[in-house]
Amino acid sequence: MPHTVPLEATVLVIFGGGGDLAWRKLIPALFNLHLDNLLPERFAIVGVARKPLDDTIFRSRLREGVDRFSRRRPADDEEWERFAARVSYLSDDFTDPASGPALSLKLEELERAWGSRANRLFYLAIPPGMVEAAATHLQRLGVCRDCRRDRLVVEKPFGRDLASAMELDRLLTGMFAESQIYRIDHYLGKETVQNILAFRFANSLYEPIWNRRYIDHVQITVAESVGVEERGGYYDGAGALRDMVQNHLLQILCLIAMEPPVSFDADEVRNRKVDVLHAMRPIRPEEVHHCAVRGQYGRGSAEGKSLPGYRDEAGVASDSPTETFAALKFFIDNWRWQGVPFYLRTGKRLPVKVSQVSILFRPAPHQPFPSAAVENWQPNRLIIRIQPEEGIVTRIQAKQPGTRLLLGPVDMQFRYSDAFRSVSPEAYETLLLDVLRGDATLFMRADQVECAWRIVAPLLEAWEAVPPGDFPDYPVGSWGPEAADLLIARDGHSWLQPALPEERR
Ligand code: BG6
Repeated sequence: MPHTVPLEATVLVIFGGGGDLAWRKLIPALFNLHLDNLLPERFAIVGVARKPLDDTIFRSRLREGVDRFSRRRPADDEEWERFAARVSYLSDDFTDPASGPALSLKLEELERAWGSRANRLFYLAIPPGMVEAAATHLQRLGVCRDCRRDRLVVEKPFGRDLASAMELDRLLTGMFAESQIYRIDHYLGKETVQNILAFRFANSLYEPIWNRRYIDHVQITVAESVGVEERGGYYDGAGALRDMVQNHLLQILCLIAMEPPVSFDADEVRNRKVDVLHAMRPIRPEEVHHCAVRGQYGRGSAEGKSLPGYRDEAGVASDSPTETFAALKFFIDNWRWQGVPFYLRTGKRLPVKVSQVSILFRPAPHQPFPSAAVENWQPNRLIIRIQPEEGIVTRIQAKQPGTRLLLGPVDMQFRYSDAFRSVSPEAYETLLLDVLRGDATLFMRADQVECAWRIVAPLLEAWEAVPPGDFPDYPVGSWGPEAADLLIARDGHSWLQPALPEERR
């Protein structure tokens, strides 16, 4: 849709409006869209939750969230007042099948004031166990029936395995059209994740070598320095595979490995990504120990502070077998990628927060230089920095200055912050605007989600069947268990460790 078309009148209903996601992410993102004049002229936000709360208290809690988490904080008083005037709270127990029509009445009241039927967006910022109740509530009230105007945004995790994801899809597609369902994966809203498409398909430089002939292997690292924070209760039933790999890491892998799309039509892009997931070689149960490593953080210290182990965190069982780290090796069985390993790793309480993709190229086929010249020689590599210090680094060999012929690696860098003056929007800003515009390109289709579950299913099953005997097996502030290094070392490689902040200065 051309982005110059003014947006139609819209009501955004946030189920779980009083919750953490709305507080930390959604409202700060919407406030930034407001500051950038990107919201529709006629726009209202209705926060829905069970607890009785009046608009004033609701708004002041949201203001607190904006002052703490918005990229443009603290909020300017006047701007906040203009934004807050569009926000209201509705106490409604959508889990109770006998609950009344409060939501329909609220929508009608807003639309009556505008004199027209608005687009209605329902954002389910609620735990997965409540999605069915919320969807059923919407269907019972008949407020989300217009396939063109009404949309449903569903947060991850979408199911907890293949069977439950399929069941959820069956339920949702029984009530709504697939085109109304926006399954969100916030990584797809990140500027640098989208830039993978621009980098690959807007430049003719790399595409000819983007294949098994030139690329030796690919590493995808999504590391976090935080632990599970206040989310122990949710995380202990999920783990790194469900929380990060099934969605964020596999989505990044798809963007790196997909074929060029014919257009940026939502389905065209998503079809190319699904092709990658279809081509991924299934891991057989007997291969799991060879292709996958799990780990859990134990106590340790960072920046002079001692930090609890995972099993000491609130909401986590004291003998929890849940993995907070996963390292995996995949192959993609197609013409482009045959034989190229894709190594993925993610974990909590690692030394630094960083997400990056490293493309390691094959050595030059012939080495004409004298052996003394190439002592420091390294194959080319390309690093796509997703966060922080967003950008792309290409490592090449150069002649070192001097009278002798000595080669050494040097980096060519593109940094977002140097190249562009403007600050990137947060992922949720991009994605919420796309929902407002009805553009589903960056959202997951049912078949994508199911394929991704199919890929991790053998790992989930194998790990559930055999509890880990050695957890916790990595201390806070390390790069995960030793077994993760062995996984990649067996193939003659090693993880490229992202630079720590003090090393980058
Ligand atoms: C979420 C996971 O999807 O992504 C969290 O549930 C994780 O556990 C978060 O911390 C990481 O996102 P980001 O944008 O901070 O890299």
